[in-house]
Amino acid sequence: MRSINILNKSRKNFIKASKVLPDGGSRSTIVLSPHSIFIESAKGKYLKDIDGNSYFDLNNNYTALIHGHSHPEITKVAIQQIKTGTGFSFGSKAESSFAKLLCDRNDNFQKIRFMNSGTEAVMNAIKVARAYTGRPKIIKCENSYHGSYDFAEVSLDGKNDPHTSEPISTAYSHGTPTGVLENVIVIPFNDVELASKIIEKNADQVAAILFDPFGQKYGRSIPSDIFIDTLKKACSDFNILFIADEVISFRAGYSGCQKERGIKADLTAMGKIIGGGFPIGAVAGNKKVMAMFSASNGRAKVPHGGTFNANPVSMVAGMKAMEMLKKNDFKKLNFLGKKFREGINEVFELVNIEGYAEGQFSIFGIKVFDKKLSDNTERGLTYKSKGLHRYMLKNGYWLTPGLTGVCSTVMDQSDIDPFCETLLSGIKELLG
Ligand SMILES: Cc1ncc(COP(=O)(O)O)c(C=O)c1O
Repeated sequence: MRSINILNKSRKNFIKASKVLPDGGSRSTIVLSPHSIFIESAKGKYLKDIDGNSYFDLNNNYTALIHGHSHPEITKVAIQQIKTGTGFSFGSKAESSFAKLLCDRNDNFQKIRFMNSGTEAVMNAIKVARAYTGRPKIIKCENSYHGSYDFAEVSLDGKNDPHTSEPISTAYSHGTPTGVLENVIVIPFNDVELASKIIEKNADQVAAILFDPFGQKYGRSIPSDIFIDTLKKACSDFNILFIADEVISFRAGYSGCQKERGIKADLTAMGKIIGGGFPIGAVAGNKKVMAMFSASNGRAKVPHGGTFNANPVSMVAGMKAMEMLKKNDFKKLNFLGKKFREGINEVFELVNIEGYAEGQFSIFGIKVFDKKLSDNTERGLTYKSKGLHRYMLKNGYWLTPGLTGVCSTVMDQSDIDPFCETLLSGIKELLG
């Protein structure tokens, strides 16, 4: 088991960075107590920080790096592209080839449009749905993360599970206009009865249901079949569009999680893995809805500019990354996820505390209820697990702060035992 050295250089860099960057960085999700860690380099499964420590990366840039870091084949095409031009005010062949590759993977994708983040993909899918239906509102699940567009952020930290009454649309960012809250209807996740009632009541005003087929918390809370069926039926009964947010869940299978869960999405938002490690977002859908982006009859109903949209570096890297993902690779990734989950459950059988593995497909989560290991205050409601997260970090494993791990194609089964041994030692040591 490796142990991490003191993080002197990271601490010093954090002090310097905090003078010019709020919280020393540009991303709320990477703030770490007592200070952020700064990375020198990354290769394959490993990260190296500026103090020389090495970490086995189970975070994979919050699920994006499905082939690990700096994969040689992706690096090669990206460097070639950088040498021949990084962005033009013209299209590129790479863009149309990549669009064809993605459309060929899923019958629900007839046309696709590229942008630079999952947030933009969700935002554009919502705008297209509003333009297509002429209705102003969207429906989303309470506590579901869909990026940082203010409509998509509504009720991200809803607190009142389980529900006895309808969830109230609440602002996540201070300063969110009330107009935003009025136009986002919130339903409780996996609550068929209440969700149906709310949808029916608002249906004639609703353009789309925005839904992550993975569920919530990186797929750790899984949507039930009956909940998915309820949403599908509501969309068909009331002519509401189904927006599948597959920014993370597209890693579930060759045609995304919608295929695995029997969803026929009108619009799909993608990001993360399809960029091969570079910034990306995409909206795909059938010809009719995607026509909202088209200016063939004058101005497009949803004009969509973007200086770096479909930049050729993201296009070639994304194309290579997705070409490298054949059906068997998803099988391998999902098998690894299952093995990690089994290993974690075996660890909990060896120790006398309550805990288990969560997750699905190529993602696993560690759920613990002991105060010494986790800062769960109310059963099941928070996923922060500082004690164990810190132990795993100190012993060379980088997970999300909520103890979620994400598999990549460069991992294999031999990675599971050492991880589980470290987890077991951590639990024993923290329990004292
Ligand atoms: C389900 C989901 N949708 C949208 C987003 C936003 O993507 P991005 O961070 O690329 O803007 C994320 C990001 O984690 C996500 O998990």
